[in-house]
Amino acid sequence: MKKIAVFTSGGDSPGMNACIRAVVRTGIYHGLDVFGIMYGYDGMIRGEIKKMQSHSVSNILQRGGTILKSARSEGFRTKEGRKKAYDQLVKHGIEGLVAIGGDGTFTGAKLFFEEYGIPTVGCPGTIDNDIFGTDYTIGFDTAVNTALEAIDKIRDTAAAHDRIFFIEVMGRDSGYIGIECGIGGGAELVMVPETKTTVKDVIKSLKGLRKTKTSSIIIVAEGDEAGGAAEIVEKVKAQFKNEDKEFKVTTLGHIQRGGNPTAKDRILGSRTGMAAVEGLMKGESNCMAGVINDMVVYTSFEDCITKDKPLKEEYLRLQEILSI
Ligand code: F6P
Repeated sequence: MKKIAVFTSGGDSPGMNACIRAVVRTGIYHGLDVFGIMYGYDGMIRGEIKKMQSHSVSNILQRGGTILKSARSEGFRTKEGRKKAYDQLVKHGIEGLVAIGGDGTFTGAKLFFEEYGIPTVGCPGTIDNDIFGTDYTIGFDTAVNTALEAIDKIRDTAAAHDRIFFIEVMGRDSGYIGIECGIGGGAELVMVPETKTTVKDVIKSLKGLRKTKTSSIIIVAEGDEAGGAAEIVEKVKAQFKNEDKEFKVTTLGHIQRGGNPTAKDRILGSRTGMAAVEGLMKGESNCMAGVINDMVVYTSFEDCITKDKPLKEEYLRLQEILSI
């Protein structure tokens, strides 16, 4: 293998740049030519492929976003799109790929590998931490810390006015961001898709909390089955209309995706980036380089995208017990 390419795809996450840097420098260290593909699969289809040098990745380790840009590609979902992408890779002589992204990225990579056989290793880049085969994903730690900073600030004003705040966090169908924000932010209640909490349950909890607390923070993971924070708060409010209680909603949104990566995310991005290149050189393919129990592990794309990554029971109990 002489020429490899790296790209980022799907939602960006802090630490992706550290991962790109590790891929480029590890490749160059081992004597490979490394190319960067812009805009994920869309750029692959369009042939937006450029040679990277060691200095191309200088001064990016500490930056959020991705210097290679990202996209959620519709074109790559089609056979014609993937054929165009393959033709572009052949044109540039690319023999191996590093795909940085989440399950959508790996679903595409798996299909592409099955159709065209270009060896591909993935790195887990998503704030959601919803990928089997790695304890944490690149960007999750930063996203939780960013959310916590906001939650701490909301706590101050919630306490000053004796208000109840519903704070919606990201995570798509996963409650990882929600539960860690709940524990780290001392939330009174956490609503995550992995456990069923009905609006009735929320009302019951809030009525119970009235005896001990004058203000409360409720974290709602965006994928929770009871609906978004705005929808839930309307239903809850209706049950408190005779009381002098104020309810507020804050949706943290894309603020959770940006910002300088934490040390953890820089290191995870760097480790998996190096592991992806060295894995490709040793013949690993159609798999992701993750970190489990502090060890680099390669897990098939098939398992990464089909196997569940349940929330830790202990975390759910911890949050519940400490919120009394
Ligand atoms: O997968 C990362 C993520 O930020 C999810 O938490 C969220 O549901 C989604 O991406 C938002 O996607 P977009 O930026 O395309 O609106």
